[in-house]
Amino acid sequence: MQVKIFPAGAVTGSISLPGDKSISHRYAMLAAIAEGVTAIENYSTGADCHSTLACVRALGIPVKVDGTLVRIEGRGMNGLLAPAGCLEAGNSGSTIRMLSGILAAQPFVSRIAGDESLARRPMARIMRPLAQMGASISAREGQFPPLEIHGAKLAGIDYTLPVPSAQVKTSILFAGLYAAGETVVRETVRSRDHSEIALRQFGANISVERRVITIQGGSELKGCELAAPSDLSSAAFFLVAALLIPGSRISIRGVGLNPTRATLLDVLVGMGANIRLANVEQKGGEMIGEIIAEYAPIRGGAIEKDVTAALIDEIPVLAVLGASSEEGLTVRDAGELRIKETDRIATIVDNLQRMGIAAEALHDGLVIPGKQKFRAAAFDSFGDHRIAMAFAVAALAADGPSTIDNAEAASVSFPEFYDTLKQVAQ
Ligand code: S3P
Repeated sequence: MQVKIFPAGAVTGSISLPGDKSISHRYAMLAAIAEGVTAIENYSTGADCHSTLACVRALGIPVKVDGTLVRIEGRGMNGLLAPAGCLEAGNSGSTIRMLSGILAAQPFVSRIAGDESLARRPMARIMRPLAQMGASISAREGQFPPLEIHGAKLAGIDYTLPVPSAQVKTSILFAGLYAAGETVVRETVRSRDHSEIALRQFGANISVERRVITIQGGSELKGCELAAPSDLSSAAFFLVAALLIPGSRISIRGVGLNPTRATLLDVLVGMGANIRLANVEQKGGEMIGEIIAEYAPIRGGAIEKDVTAALIDEIPVLAVLGASSEEGLTVRDAGELRIKETDRIATIVDNLQRMGIAAEALHDGLVIPGKQKFRAAAFDSFGDHRIAMAFAVAALAADGPSTIDNAEAASVSFPEFYDTLKQVAQ
């Protein structure tokens, strides 16, 4: 599908967004192995989170979807059934990596695969710790999907994450629920902690001390009532749109503001953004609130080290903002971008250059000079949702109408994206 985007005079309005993708995955997986019904409000409408629901169903767990309300009838820790065929994770790295932690402990063999993009993403990062716990997992060429997982009786491990990855951390913690004894995960760089919070909501025996997470095996989970906040990573596209176009003012309600995700807001404010929060509250252990952003000139600057890891999903849209900023943007320590849904360093630079923006790809980052003018262009999402949405935002600031090929990729996390953009772009 090709989408045409017209330049906008301003971005204004008050919106709410689909449920957080990271949180929705975790709630659905834990609900499947909890005892009793879990009701999840504002479940993500993204295709990725629906891949997780399809896997849960294929494991014999009843799932009812009524709009964005999802009801999952968990059958307890030992209630999953051997799937009849291969589990399909689609485009979703979270589904395959996190669910593998649960599959590793089942008394059956499962196969899990995904689309062409997922088939190129590395799985050794979860295979190694899960094998140390006792599972036997084979993969194409030793590291790529499909995975064949021979579940086993697991034993707890003490594991230091070699990459800052919440998906890997979660996979180990979910396996740890089934393992004999305790499982300890140590992080050198703090990653999003939605799993730790969700596990507590479901009644797991988990403790967190600084960057050391300990989970006891053998606890039972209990179904509960939950609501996913609006996804901050989806909000990022609208925040940047408002910061890009003079005269803009946008308010986004009920957004997840978990401190391990909100680094984006700190970085934007540090660069001069006019952003404030209202109606902040705690819900289900997660902080949520309204974000109000008004246009202000953005300085730009450098993003590196732990900061890069904390806003890795937002770098495509920050790169767009960087090109219009006063000093430009340098991103370092972002090697992980090369193994996301696409090689995002390459796909960002390719699309920036299509609109006449000078940008340099580094092996682990980007250098984008500032004060650049955006020319209308024919973009390609390359099948990557965040690339599609980042360049739709860039197109708002261009000097004429732009097109995006393979624009449907946005529905991986945000099917309503183009409608919402149309609603606020004047
Ligand atoms: C996610 C963790 C991050 C992020 C992804 C979602 C999660 O991936 O990029 O979009 O929900 O845990 P990594 O764990 O690979 O860093």
